[in-house]
Amino acid sequence: MSAIDKIKAKAKANRKHIVLPEGTEPRTVQASAKIEAEGIATVTLLGNPDEVKKVAAQTNTDLSKVEIIDPMTSDKTETYSNLLFELRKAKGMTEEEAKKITTTNPLFFGALMVKTGDADGMVAGAINSTGNVLRAALQVIKTAPGIKTVSGSFIMELPDSKWGQDGVLVFGDCAVVPDPTAEQLADIAIASAETGRLLCDIDPKVAMLSFSTKGSAKHDNVTKVQEATKLAHEMKPDLQLDGELQADAALVESVGQLKSPGSTVAGKANVLIFPYLQAGNIGYKLVQRFANASATGPIIQGLAKPVSDLSRGCNVDDIVSVVAITAVKAQA
Ligand code: ACO
Repeated sequence: MSAIDKIKAKAKANRKHIVLPEGTEPRTVQASAKIEAEGIATVTLLGNPDEVKKVAAQTNTDLSKVEIIDPMTSDKTETYSNLLFELRKAKGMTEEEAKKITTTNPLFFGALMVKTGDADGMVAGAINSTGNVLRAALQVIKTAPGIKTVSGSFIMELPDSKWGQDGVLVFGDCAVVPDPTAEQLADIAIASAETGRLLCDIDPKVAMLSFSTKGSAKHDNVTKVQEATKLAHEMKPDLQLDGELQADAALVESVGQLKSPGSTVAGKANVLIFPYLQAGNIGYKLVQRFANASATGPIIQGLAKPVSDLSRGCNVDDIVSVVAITAVKAQA
């Protein structure tokens, strides 16, 4: 069974409620019916019901089991708008602005549903940028207790099972923090390990990647990874984590044992932590294309409640998969 099929099975075992704010977007409409039909989650689409139903008719989609909420007319709108005002008034938001955002920006309406527990998670991004999806989540849902950094990982499933744990690895951060500090990098490492454990049953072996292995090069960029490694060890002493490591030392047993002898991670890593977003984002796309790997994500980590972002190039099955991931995160 593939990693994503295992995640879908987990989602079905304890059905959660996921809100899809892009309710008039054709792929989202089709995915919502599929998610309900397969029993992966209960879904709510946001949008004007007439417009949503028009898209359903155009795409031959049966929405009889899917709830539709119109943020313009919902009886929850006033409650949500008051909550948004309370959450953002210290940042200068007025009551009028809060009302306008709640009625006209479904990303915020969806995030407010999750914040209040009216939904367990949110999935968006088929027509919205990553930045806009994340901003609604960061401003309304905020980070989980004790966590300061929200980041985004990918589950990489390679055809060759010699890599990672049976061909499965987690890459982070590939989506959110452009230039993380050492503290943020340590947070990203811990969150990515947890994503691997929760979603893929991985026993995490975390490699803090660099162009240097164990002091082979000296540079401020290397120092940052060394500091992040130390911090992550202090925060999670039981986590198998090693750094700084070059990618070959992290992944190839013979190189790993040569460059970091005795390490339980070097040569066996299944969670790869990139020092910068550019490296992470480029890295996952290279592996996806060159190694014909499936890349599922970005899985947003560190929020108090689960929100997932879609690629704007996503297809219906991608949306179904990301909803399943979000539902499993909501179970935790
Ligand atoms: N972790 C925790 N909190 C954060 C983070 C973070 N990573 N980023 C911002 N915040 C906080 C801010 O401090 C702010 O707090 P406040 O309550 O005091 O206001 C709040 O969240 C909202 O921040 P904003 O100022 O509204 O948002 P910002 O302009 O900082 O943008 C964002 C945050 C959207 C995540 C930005 O860093 C970004 O655009 N990142 C890159 C996203 C991207 O384009 N990724 C690549 C594409 S994805 C792909 O290819 C798969």
